[in-house]
Amino acid sequence: MDQAGVLRKMKNNGVSPAIERKRYNGNTRVIAITSGKGGVGKTSITANLAYIFSKMGKKTLLLDADTGLANIDVILGITTKYNLSHVLRGEKTLSEAIVEGPGGIKILPATSGIRGMVELSKGQKFTLLEELDELDEDFDFMLIDTAAGITDNVMYFNMAAREIIVVVSPEPTSLTDAYALIKMLYQDYKAKCFMLLVNMVKDSNEAVEVYTRLSNATNHFLGLPIEYLGHIPYDQNVSKAVRKQRLLAEIFSDSKASKSMFKIIEKLCLKQPKDYENGTIKFFGRSNIDKNR
Ligand SMILES: Nc1ncnc2c1ncn2[C@@H]1O[C@H](COP(=O)(O)OP(=O)(O)OP(=O)(O)O)[C@@H](O)[C@H]1O
Ligand SMILES: [Mg+2]
Repeated sequence: MDQAGVLRKMKNNGVSPAIERKRYNGNTRVIAITSGKGGVGKTSITANLAYIFSKMGKKTLLLDADTGLANIDVILGITTKYNLSHVLRGEKTLSEAIVEGPGGIKILPATSGIRGMVELSKGQKFTLLEELDELDEDFDFMLIDTAAGITDNVMYFNMAAREIIVVVSPEPTSLTDAYALIKMLYQDYKAKCFMLLVNMVKDSNEAVEVYTRLSNATNHFLGLPIEYLGHIPYDQNVSKAVRKQRLLAEIFSDSKASKSMFKIIEKLCLKQPKDYENGTIKFFGRSNIDKNR
């Protein structure tokens, strides 16, 4: 879409009635996987969850939204011709940029470390929303692997999701950074549905301790309860799989970390996301994006 088109759509509050209907009646569960601190395992977790969902027969789209340093393609050992930047420049449609990964996951790769791409302009954000709306395929799940931190892009991609999985490790800085992220998403962007996933722990006791510390803080200072989604133990098979550019759930499916991921999937499938408008899931939280830009 050209710049004039983007501006026209923004002026008309964005979208045609047909697209609006699709967004509000879609059944796609859009889940962002995010963190305050970097290197806590978001990308490995997102790729494995997407793989497991896909093997279960759930149509899954993995959006690599780390526009700073993309690495889903590296983790999966796939080479991609086009990526998010081609879509944002209007050179390719989303369908043309999406590639298929292991287990039939559909992947929209990000761009690798191109400076101009680090922060998306408002026009680019709308182009992406339009492209997502216009996808022919109906996905059961869309998982968004965000960058770490509290940048504008991280906020945008989290607001695009209805459910937010915050990944933490037991390191104290990971907890304080996660608190800062949740506080900003809640206070400035009105996000409410947070699930905590504690990665790289010794055992479930350590994970529950980490969860208790963080949820005490959000309850006490923000009046916001957060949900415990589960934990993944520290397991060298995770980095072994990364080095082989294969997925843990594919080649080490009996590993401790892999079994934990299966439990997390089970919990996510049992969950009935509550506060969706009209009892359905809103595809993208555009109203929040509008309000806060
Ligand atoms: N449960 C685990 N046990 C052992 N190592 C792990 C575990 N989870 C992740 N790792 C390792 O931690 C490193 C960081 O993981 P990953 O790249 O997925 O983190 P990230 O949060 O996406 O990082 P970034 O913020 O840079 O995008 C990788 O080397 C990965 O293999
Ligand atoms: Mg990552």
